[in-house]
Amino acid sequence: MFISFEGTEGVGKTTLIRKIYDHFIAQGQDVVLTREPGGTPMAEQIRALLLSVNHEEKMCNDTELLLMYAARAQHLSQVILPALEAGKTVLCDRFTDASFAYQCAGRGLSEDKLLLLNANFVSRMPDFTFWLDAPIEIGMNRARARGELDRFEQEKVTFFEKVRAGYETLSVRHPERVKRLDASQSPEQVFEQALTYF
Ligand code: TMP
Repeated sequence: MFISFEGTEGVGKTTLIRKIYDHFIAQGQDVVLTREPGGTPMAEQIRALLLSVNHEEKMCNDTELLLMYAARAQHLSQVILPALEAGKTVLCDRFTDASFAYQCAGRGLSEDKLLLLNANFVSRMPDFTFWLDAPIEIGMNRARARGELDRFEQEKVTFFEKVRAGYETLSVRHPERVKRLDASQSPEQVFEQALTYF
């Protein structure tokens, strides 16, 4: 099974994934925990480029989208597909839904660009996606408390409202796959919500 975790900044994805990972391991399952952008040494280098703040040169939106997919292609071929073929469960912190939410809904890129990339470079979609949803202020406060903000975290609240609306659109379009969790609750309660799907 391939499970992805989505949401705006600071909604508690990492904590939830860790709890689900431990839960599956305790059940004796073979589980791979990974993330996007990243998940392989080369894809992590692309991640560093994507998240770093460059005051001399603004990254254009198309570059951002293409770098996300360059990292994804590498991650899919090196980690996700081999793990699934070996019968393992893959828990992935973000996947293509993040590109829809951030690059299309957030940045305003045409969905046609995303569809083209998905059709050509993404041979496997998650079976199941948890969308951790919480008011933007809650997440931003948590992200700020973590320390220095990356290039995305420095965006304004209006950007994240659009991203959140993008995730809402996906949950309406794909109700069988994308499940909304109320991430304004405590980590334990969010985990309990997630467990009801297994
Ligand atoms: P993370 O901090 O949750 O690991 O994600 C890194 C950032 O990358 C986050 O701000 C969302 C962004 N992102 C996109 O904009 N598009 C994508 O396709 C992915 C995977 C992440």
